[in-house]
Amino acid sequence: MFHLNVRHFIPLQPSSSLMENFDPKMFWIIWFLCSVLLCECSPVPDPDSPMFGEVQSPQYPQPYPPNLQQQWELRVPEGFQIRLTFTHLDIEAAAGCYYDSLTVLHKEKLLGKFCGTENSADGHHPGNHPILSPGNTLMLIFQTDDDNPERHQNLGFSAQYQAIDVDECSAPEPLDGSGPLCSQICLNTLGSYLCACHHGYELRSDQRTCVLSCGGGIFDEPEGHLFSPGYPMIPPHAVSCQYIISVEPGFTVSLNFSDNFHIESVDTEDGLICLHHWLLVTIPDREPIKLCGGLSPGLMETNSSTVKLDYHTDDKGQSRGWSLDYRTQRVQCPVPGRVANGRVTPVLTEYFYRDYLHVRCDQGYKLMMEGEEIQSFFTMCVSSGRWHLSLPECHIIDCGEPEPLLNGAVTVLSGFQNQYRSVVQYHCNQPFYSPLGGVNVTFRCDADRQWRSTHDVISSPTCLPVCGQPTKLISGYQRIIGGSNAPHKTIPWQVMLSVGSGRGGGMVIADRWILTAAHVLVANGATVPPEDVRIYMGHNDVKTLKDTPVNASSLYIHPGYKNPDLLNYNNDIALMKLDQPITFDSSVMPLCLPAEGATYDTGVMGLVSGFGITINRGREVLTNRLKYVQLPVVDQETCSSSLSSIRRTRSDVPNLTENMFCAGVPEGSKDSCQGDSGSAFTLRENGRFYAAGIVSWGIECGKRGTYGVYTRVSNYLPWINNTIQNN
Ligand SMILES: *[C@@H]1O[C@H](CO)[C@@H](O)[C@H](O)[C@H]1NC(C)=O
Ligand SMILES: *[C@@H]1O[C@H](CO)[C@@H](O)[C@H](O)[C@H]1NC(C)=O
Ligand SMILES: *[C@@H]1O[C@H](CO)[C@@H](O)[C@H](O)[C@H]1NC(C)=O
Ligand SMILES: *[C@@H]1O[C@H](CO)[C@@H](O)[C@H](O)[C@H]1NC(C)=O
Ligand SMILES: *[C@@H]1O[C@H](CO)[C@@H](O)[C@H](O)[C@H]1NC(C)=O
Ligand SMILES: *[C@@H]1O[C@H](CO)[C@@H](O)[C@H](O)[C@H]1NC(C)=O
Repeated sequence: MFHLNVRHFIPLQPSSSLMENFDPKMFWIIWFLCSVLLCECSPVPDPDSPMFGEVQSPQYPQPYPPNLQQQWELRVPEGFQIRLTFTHLDIEAAAGCYYDSLTVLHKEKLLGKFCGTENSADGHHPGNHPILSPGNTLMLIFQTDDDNPERHQNLGFSAQYQAIDVDECSAPEPLDGSGPLCSQICLNTLGSYLCACHHGYELRSDQRTCVLSCGGGIFDEPEGHLFSPGYPMIPPHAVSCQYIISVEPGFTVSLNFSDNFHIESVDTEDGLICLHHWLLVTIPDREPIKLCGGLSPGLMETNSSTVKLDYHTDDKGQSRGWSLDYRTQRVQCPVPGRVANGRVTPVLTEYFYRDYLHVRCDQGYKLMMEGEEIQSFFTMCVSSGRWHLSLPECHIIDCGEPEPLLNGAVTVLSGFQNQYRSVVQYHCNQPFYSPLGGVNVTFRCDADRQWRSTHDVISSPTCLPVCGQPTKLISGYQRIIGGSNAPHKTIPWQVMLSVGSGRGGGMVIADRWILTAAHVLVANGATVPPEDVRIYMGHNDVKTLKDTPVNASSLYIHPGYKNPDLLNYNNDIALMKLDQPITFDSSVMPLCLPAEGATYDTGVMGLVSGFGITINRGREVLTNRLKYVQLPVVDQETCSSSLSSIRRTRSDVPNLTENMFCAGVPEGSKDSCQGDSGSAFTLRENGRFYAAGIVSWGIECGKRGTYGVYTRVSNYLPWINNTIQNN
């Protein structure tokens, strides 16, 4: 196999019949090589030079005229010879062709002087031997004398010529000592020749001689083989070859020198030095490495995508040279560290250029980069061998402060700073509030940063007021009329009302609601404006109580209360809504409502309290102290007949309805009275006080044979419920 280094061009005559012998493929190879190697090609063939032709004497085939001196210059393309073949020659014969002649010349060289006819004795006839020109030109000179040769009508000549390829390669070596045409390989071509060199050599610019090839240049394939000129033979002197391996960034080149390595070195006291011969390995941004000696460097990782090799020998000494295989591999990135509380994927033992890494945080942790939270993270191994982003951190999430609980509090059961998996417990401010559902709700900080109840049943905790359970109980019960002062905190639902100049009572039943009697809030058949009502609570002493009024925002009189003549106390019930909710404590606490369908059994003792009229030294006075008395529920019939008997002497006795009940003792002296209206008659069940009745009316207070009449609260539960729900 040889390496074509073609500089000579081949003449081309597309019109030539010789084209049939011409290999077009060869042409393209040659053309390609020429253009690639940028050769200065041999003279471009004269496009006017034909590959063949014909010459004839004037007037042929008529006899030629006398006195002629005509010449033809035949020319075929460079690199060809001319073969001239006479088809006919008939020229006046004479010895030495003295009179008429056809002279054939190549340059100055005479190839023949012809006259006569074929087989004529005189003259010089070419016969049917063609004439071969040594070059690509041929001069024909036809001369005739002035003697009119009437006796002999010579026709002249007719000849054909054609271009004949020269086999330059088989030509003998020129005698001038310039050496063979081609120093290594000669290839004859149509009209020309090519010099070529054996493998490892390249054609010099003289187009003839070959020199050892450096094989240099730029190598950009992912792998390849390089060797010094002539390797493994002894190379010529004074080599200066450069090889550049340059592959895509992101890949590194490793050089694997074969064991057979020899570059002349000089032994010094300090060891080998590469004085005259060397192979210089240059890696960008690195100190160049000079190699010489007899020991192969073996495998050399350059860690670079480009490396330059300069091989230098001077004109003395001998280096047998070197060879190497190079390979490329993707740039390696460092194995990433770990991310605490996160996962780095994929897990590989090595990471290379264009590999990706993802980082995900464990449940309950979030990705953080430079103090910012990020949604997702990946990083790529870039060509410099680094990760384009450094790894993020996984920080524990937190759910933020748990929602505060009205009338309750949150305590941390476990965890820290509301972080993931922290557990908090809501509890209500006992004993005044209790959790809805009766259990303290625990919430856990979930991975989605929400506080989630561990009991799916309850979504958000609520504290319900505890009703009817005062922190202090009255041990003995006394009358109001002449009754006892209620110790502080024993009747915490008690409300005192100032309506205009009048005084009434009420009871707290919810944090915004006061239950009272309708007649307290109706004056002259009309509901009083809410701003005329002052509401006091939280103390058993009127003076203290009056320091802290609360205001009603709206009043709700039962729609069935119609009492224009103050003789019909049916539906004597009303609700007041407060403009601010009350926070309950031991001094203010709501009273429970009766259970649905509650009945009040005759004789059951209830507790009535109020700031109403009391008897002081025989005089009726408005009390400054909360009073209370214990009274039994009176049979409805008994009460009704008591009223009937009174009605016999008085006409102003209201009717007793099923919405009322009575309480009191037949002997009198214990009763509720004016100013107590609206206050509660409470019964106690399961340790809880509930609003059984509302102080409504009576015929004189504490008089023997009369009873106090109370609104039967249990008949109004739907109305109370609806009013509260809807307002
Ligand atoms: C280096 O080349 C030698 C053969 O010359 C081969 O045996 C060896 O495996 C190569 N080393 C590498 C790392 O390619
Ligand atoms: C390439 O990197 C490897 C590993 O970091 C190192 O051992 C070697 O010396 C480096 N090669 C060069 C030529 O710096
Ligand atoms: C609720 O929590 C409070 C305060 O921690 C505690 O006193 C009470 O006993 C708990 N109640 C229940 C039902 O667990
Ligand atoms: C109640 O109303 C009065 C007069 O309208 C006002 O002066 C007072 O501040 C109110 N009290 C509250 C607690 O809003
Ligand atoms: C009381 O009832 C009687 C009969 O049931 C009735 O005639 C009278 O009008 C009622 N009085 C009032 C004030 O409603
Ligand atoms: C009040 O209404 C609620 C629903 O609106 C109901 O659950 C409750 O039982 C009602 N209470 C009474 C006493 O009617």
